[in-house]
Amino acid sequence: MKKLISLLLLCLFGTSTFSQSHTSERTEWFTDARFGMFIHWGIYSAAEGYWKGEKIRNDNDYAEWIFYRNSIAKDEYVTLLERFDWDKINPEEWVILAKNAGMKYVTFTAKHHDGFALWDSQSSKYDLGDYTNHKRDIVKELAEACKKHGLKLGLYYSHWVDWEHEFGWDHKKELTGITPEQYNKYWQEKVIPQMRELLTNYGEISMIWFDMWIHHSQTVVTKEQLFQLKKLIRELQPNCLINSRLGLSAEEDPDVDFKELGDNALGDKKEDFPWQSPATVAHSWGFHATDCEWKSTTTLLKSLINNVSLNGNLLLNIGPRANGNVPWEIQQRLLEMGNWLTVNGESVYGAGAFDLPKNQHDWGKITCKKNGEKTTLYFHVFNWPLNKKLFVTGISSKPEKMWLLGDKEKNPLRFTHKGAYTEIELPGEQPGQFVSVIAAEYVTNPEISEGLVAKNKSGGYSFLPGNQIVPVNSENLIKKEKFGTIPEYFLIEKPETFTWKIFVDTPGIKRFDISYSYQNNSNHSPEIILETANQKISVFAKPTGKTVGEPNDNWIIDNFSSNRMGEIHFPEAGFYTIEMQIIPPKNDNLKFQWIWAE
Ligand code: GLC
Repeated sequence: MKKLISLLLLCLFGTSTFSQSHTSERTEWFTDARFGMFIHWGIYSAAEGYWKGEKIRNDNDYAEWIFYRNSIAKDEYVTLLERFDWDKINPEEWVILAKNAGMKYVTFTAKHHDGFALWDSQSSKYDLGDYTNHKRDIVKELAEACKKHGLKLGLYYSHWVDWEHEFGWDHKKELTGITPEQYNKYWQEKVIPQMRELLTNYGEISMIWFDMWIHHSQTVVTKEQLFQLKKLIRELQPNCLINSRLGLSAEEDPDVDFKELGDNALGDKKEDFPWQSPATVAHSWGFHATDCEWKSTTTLLKSLINNVSLNGNLLLNIGPRANGNVPWEIQQRLLEMGNWLTVNGESVYGAGAFDLPKNQHDWGKITCKKNGEKTTLYFHVFNWPLNKKLFVTGISSKPEKMWLLGDKEKNPLRFTHKGAYTEIELPGEQPGQFVSVIAAEYVTNPEISEGLVAKNKSGGYSFLPGNQIVPVNSENLIKKEKFGTIPEYFLIEKPETFTWKIFVDTPGIKRFDISYSYQNNSNHSPEIILETANQKISVFAKPTGKTVGEPNDNWIIDNFSSNRMGEIHFPEAGFYTIEMQIIPPKNDNLKFQWIWAE
């Protein structure tokens, strides 16, 4: 019934959607929102990554792990609360920052691994209510602020790991042992009642963010305990989302709302099931005094766009200090993202993946939004082309209109469209500081011409084993090694054929070059034959010798070099198949890297 109503509303008001199949109506707001704020704030924030002068004992420098890593006694750990400046702490400021950053939801660490509840919990004495003079309840304050400013509230709750409770999990228990009964005591007397409090006392909770990054079978937690927890959430707040770090596999329980990727792992394939990347602006989640690997605003925007172009979300973390302040470096980047989203947000909110293969274009990423019959594609230009032209390959429908998203007047951009190729004339300079976006409107769903190699930014075509009509899946495709000084290549030990497809928009001559490594093991040379447009080029490979990666390191590698093959005349605009055969002599091989045509 609800579905029918949304369908009716869609027809009535033309609400925009994109083509991502939702797992449930619950996730609709989430896949529309695309961008949220993660907040790691707790007792650890006052340690700032140091305990008694010593830096946190782990390379990964996650400041919120200091309790465990530096073996701090539970009673001593809470003395860090003396450093908190309660007069200054104002969670509403975080929510306002999220709003100004263009984020649509906030996920707050209500209880992190240290086991300390940042609300006035009735089920544990290790909580803010018992440790602050004037009883602060940060969950309450955040819930009110989110309501006031129109953002959704999610809560991070560390269910598996709890370093404070006698029977909670910490990795040391691998040595001391813990019985299932003991662990269940922690579960029943802390996890379940605290979750009940969080889901009862603070109005609508839109998401519970669990944090078990391995499957429950590798932990002390049982499937039954996780089901009990999930059932409680579904009963108390049926609209609340649950992330996949709950710890159940999809086979055991398909009723998890979205997949949470690993820390700072961005998406790399299009998925229909909702998913999200948790990510940091620098490195640590909790505030860390000497963490300074700040990602640039452009990098963060590219992360967001990358995920949206594959149907995913980005949950970007802030680690406020013990006085509530958010480090300036974070604020600045978030506000810049917000300004960008004010102008370009329609390419992100409610947008999703388009059906062209990812990374087909070397200039950036495409997102897609449907509005009734109409479809708008958003070309996010990461690298503004020097020749002021944007080449779009693979869409055979002609766009109605194109404009720069930053241009309020929507002045039409000039473009030509031929076959499966659109060429857009760009204004002189890149119009925005960060990523500039071009909107292209189509009257219906744009049709795709499958399997094409895209025209590169500079006008050439890059033919690789991986972008053939049928992508290669072979053990002879050898991954790059030695930091890429040995590039990825296809090892040719017997005659092999490669086939690509292109759309040529302008008739004329193209020169073909090939990159390979040939170490000359026989009296005969490998033969390379390329055929297209009823013409044929045939050449013999030349030895390419060795090269050196780094000095004084015995870093001697097979050299790959570019060799001219010849020219082909393409008599008319249209689709062409390029076929290449490489025939190595017996007991010899050639390492094929790429073909370049321009
Ligand atoms: C890891 C860490 C944790 C952090 C989380 C964020 O699971 O244990 O400290 O909260 O990742 O994704």
